[in-house]
Amino acid sequence: MTSLQGPGPAGYDLSGQVAVLTGAGSGIGRATALTLAAAGATVVGGDIDEAAARATATRIDEVGGVARGVRADVTDREQVDALIDGAVAEFGHVDIVGNIAGVPHNKLVMECSDEEFERILAINLKSVFYGCQAAMRVMVPRKTGNIVNVSSGAIDTPAPTLACYGMTKAAVAMLTKTLAWEGGPLGIRCNAIAPGVIETNFSRHNFVDAQGNVDPEKLEAYRTRFGRMTPLGRVGEAQDVANTILYLVSDAASYMTGQILRPNGGQAMPW
Ligand SMILES: NC(=O)c1ccc[n+]([C@@H]2O[C@H](COP(=O)([O-])OP(=O)(O)OC[C@H]3O[C@@H](n4cnc5c(N)ncnc54)[C@H](O)[C@@H]3O)[C@@H](O)[C@H]2O)c1
Repeated sequence: MTSLQGPGPAGYDLSGQVAVLTGAGSGIGRATALTLAAAGATVVGGDIDEAAARATATRIDEVGGVARGVRADVTDREQVDALIDGAVAEFGHVDIVGNIAGVPHNKLVMECSDEEFERILAINLKSVFYGCQAAMRVMVPRKTGNIVNVSSGAIDTPAPTLACYGMTKAAVAMLTKTLAWEGGPLGIRCNAIAPGVIETNFSRHNFVDAQGNVDPEKLEAYRTRFGRMTPLGRVGEAQDVANTILYLVSDAASYMTGQILRPNGGQAMPW
């Protein structure tokens, strides 16, 4: 049935749109790639793990979607530019950019080396800056586009060992809000998500044994411990986050920009 008012299913239709995603080989990036493709988008997924990026694209191809999976190290501006320019060259335009790639980091401030600090800055922050710049370069001439950056619930709850990670993610949130102001008059929306605890490879260190295999008892303990921190009583899945990203890039969110959405089960509830 056609909706009487509001976006209805058509508001989430991304047919004809091209999405470029980083970190598309795993977790939130892969779930987002599959979700945007299911909504009709062509997806170009970059990842430092080329095989993983290709595997994501293959899953989309197999069900009749259009996707590419390519190697892109987001710490290298040239590779980020090439990812987005490659999508324009093959498909004619880029409508959606998701800056998703990122890595965890846990170290006390007084124990963190310069090298580690620079590494986390490069992967989690500079990469997003490069991605936003490249997105603007191809979106501004068309006066349309959607950028989504991945921040983290770490910006809501400071905790020991999370200084470097939290600083990069807080900066991503600030970049997002600033770019919303710069992009808004040019027809470009820019939003961020700050996920809570999501069960992906990112959190794997919590529930694997010394050989790197999933330990069922540790997995259960992880789910229980972090699930208890949320009113919904469970940790999140990558799909929970992908759904939020789909909303933000769709017409259903046409009046949303500069916002930090929190798929976190209610773990943090900032105003
Ligand atoms: N999982 C969580 O609990 C959680 C919570 C909050 C925020 N996040 C954020 O979500 C994003 C995605 O994380 P995830 O949970 O899907 O983790 P994940 O480990 O499953 O996926 C991350 C992907 O990024 C890729 N990547 C890492 N370094 C890269 C580089 N230099 N260049 C290109 N790709 C690179 C990895 O190969 C991997 O495919 C990250 O930015 C992370 O900080 C995750």
